[in-house]
Amino acid sequence: MTLELSLNQQPAHARQGSSIGQPLTRRDGFLKVTGGARYAADNHPPGMLYAVLAVSSIARGRVAALDTEAAKAHKGVVEVMTPKNRPALAIDPDAKDNPFMFRLDLLQNDQVRYPNQSIAVVIAETLEAATEGAALLSPRYEALPARVGLDGAKSFVPRGVGIGGPAVQHKGDVETGLRSAKTRIEATYETPAQYHNAMEPHAIVVAWDGDRLSIDTPSQGLAMAQGRIAGLFGIAPENIHIRSPFLGGGFGSKGMISGPQVLGILAARLVGRPVKLVLRREQMYGPVGHRAPTRQTLRMGMDGEGRLTAIDHHARTASSTFDDFFEPAADASHTLYASPAIATSHDAVRLDTGTPLFMRAPGEATGSIALESAIDEAAHACGMDPLEFRLRNYAEVEPMTGKPFSSKALRECYRQAAETFGWASRPLQPRLMRDADGFLTGWGMGTATFPALMFQAEARAVLRSDGSGLMETGAQDMGQGAWTAFAQIAADGLGLDIDRVEFRAGSSDLPNAGIAGGSGHTATAGMAIHNAGAAVIARLADLATGNEASPLFGAGNEGVLARGGRLYRRDDESRGESYAEILMRAGLTEIEAHGKGAPDPASQETYAKHAHGAVFAEVKVDPDFGQIRVTRLVGAFAAGRVINPRLVRSQYYGGMIWGISFALHEEAITDRRSGRIQNANLAEYHVPVNADVPSVEALLVHEDDPYVNALGIKGVGEIGITGTAGAIANAVWHATGVRPRRFPIRIEDLL
Ligand code: MOS
Repeated sequence: MTLELSLNQQPAHARQGSSIGQPLTRRDGFLKVTGGARYAADNHPPGMLYAVLAVSSIARGRVAALDTEAAKAHKGVVEVMTPKNRPALAIDPDAKDNPFMFRLDLLQNDQVRYPNQSIAVVIAETLEAATEGAALLSPRYEALPARVGLDGAKSFVPRGVGIGGPAVQHKGDVETGLRSAKTRIEATYETPAQYHNAMEPHAIVVAWDGDRLSIDTPSQGLAMAQGRIAGLFGIAPENIHIRSPFLGGGFGSKGMISGPQVLGILAARLVGRPVKLVLRREQMYGPVGHRAPTRQTLRMGMDGEGRLTAIDHHARTASSTFDDFFEPAADASHTLYASPAIATSHDAVRLDTGTPLFMRAPGEATGSIALESAIDEAAHACGMDPLEFRLRNYAEVEPMTGKPFSSKALRECYRQAAETFGWASRPLQPRLMRDADGFLTGWGMGTATFPALMFQAEARAVLRSDGSGLMETGAQDMGQGAWTAFAQIAADGLGLDIDRVEFRAGSSDLPNAGIAGGSGHTATAGMAIHNAGAAVIARLADLATGNEASPLFGAGNEGVLARGGRLYRRDDESRGESYAEILMRAGLTEIEAHGKGAPDPASQETYAKHAHGAVFAEVKVDPDFGQIRVTRLVGAFAAGRVINPRLVRSQYYGGMIWGISFALHEEAITDRRSGRIQNANLAEYHVPVNADVPSVEALLVHEDDPYVNALGIKGVGEIGITGTAGAIANAVWHATGVRPRRFPIRIEDLL
């Protein structure tokens, strides 16, 4: 385990000086491509049994009968867990003390609230026996009609959206703004339900030892998972050890511990043996969250110069019948375009689905599709180029709050991306460009944005008398490169070359690194690492500057520099000594210190903090058959300090490719009679493959931000998905003259 939890490959590009900013390859890359990286489901503790979920095939009603006898009679089946024999929990899984505490389906009764809800767990000596046992349960249901679709049920205004922001907000009077406008547009856009579909399904391997728990499971937030499990089982969080060194993707679905993961823990309790439970692909379409569908109406007014006089953005969305996550789509209109009047509002319906949850850029992804499409329509209505229109309405301060931006290099993003793309030669009118093969060609653009969030994190730094260093924090790497970026920050914080730094993460017995979500992990845990490094260097400097035998004697803590494993005098860099010499003279084998990362409350009050970007898209459309191909994407993003350009670019690519998916591929289709999802598999739930992904370019625009945090990091995990789908839709219009109003864009919409 130690090997997996502390990755110490010598990076090829490591060099003297700053590690931050180097395009290092992933420290965990070698383990991953050689199969050496052990994911949760790869673990097999001795005596382990296999647990398989039986899930509901109805959307609403109750389970009237389960043939548990037939299942138990099957060879190899050890036990069947149902509401009748499920071990007791310390709290009701339907209890909700805070907005982050989502209600779980843990066999509390016979009710069915959505398709694919767990109704029993079969535990057996083999995976095959457990799977067959689950099939033998042959459930009988009393079904009620499923509530599906955004029109089907009575709508209401939720108390909050996302994790609780006001559902209705306004600045100025949009009706007055619209009345005074010379030009107006109004348009409605629909976005579909999407499911996270991480490559690695949710999985857990769990062993009880008395009241202690040993768990391998993918988690984007180890301490939160630990706390939730502790609450459910009434045990101390420190009695729960969760290892999550590698995640095969998360996208938000592994932010909170899900019901099936807790069912694995319950199953292990019931049988008194270690248990492994892995979701099948179709079982992920329900209990682990999804992106809710939206229908958004935008109204905009413009004066004679193309300046916005009003933006009204209304979003209808959906939640489950039993919990309260609402996709904050309309809030996308708070940030990007200056307007004297802005109104955003949400209403919602309750459907018989699993509770929607955070999914990569929740709110911003869906909202920016509608907003960027509407902005394109508004520009055309004013007879203006879409880039010129956006610059005319450029927000010099955050439109909704009037706060100055901590930094905003969006003009530079527009300029660099437009120039690289060749935007200047774009004809204003649609349907004017054809390529040599006769395909209609169109160019479109969208603006990208995502808030620069920070949460709370801690780290522990150690310097050792052999000249090496250790940095520990329970960070989570979903594939984004946390193992590498944090080691780079640690190396600089400790004043060591990166090959002298051991970095430990991915385990709940390390300091709490907060959540890998909200694009805030690098900033938050990175600041904890940076501060822990600074604190341990300060202790080391105290040892040296206070000792007459040291060449640093009398320099004072401020008077020394740490670099390459040595402390130097700031006023005379020829005078210094190594960490090892300082520690050995003091008779110490190591010294340690802790650091925290958190948002700065003062600058939080003063500044609006967002990353920005611009995405330009080229599409080609078959004039006869309406088939759409994205042929080129160019994005430019400004998100503060870049810790590792290779990893950051890769995050932008991932987001932009998801934008292609949003525009042209992804949609979970619900059967209107049964309420079941018809395409709950990767064959029919379309995501882009290599053939769908053309040339994608991501430009990193320089941006210094002195306010977001001392390292100047804003976060890059989610911004790439914003802006891109709108840019593609706008390119489709430019190619065809037809406005896409529902996503994914279908061939029949263009005919
Ligand atoms: Mo993300 S949806 O913040 O994991």
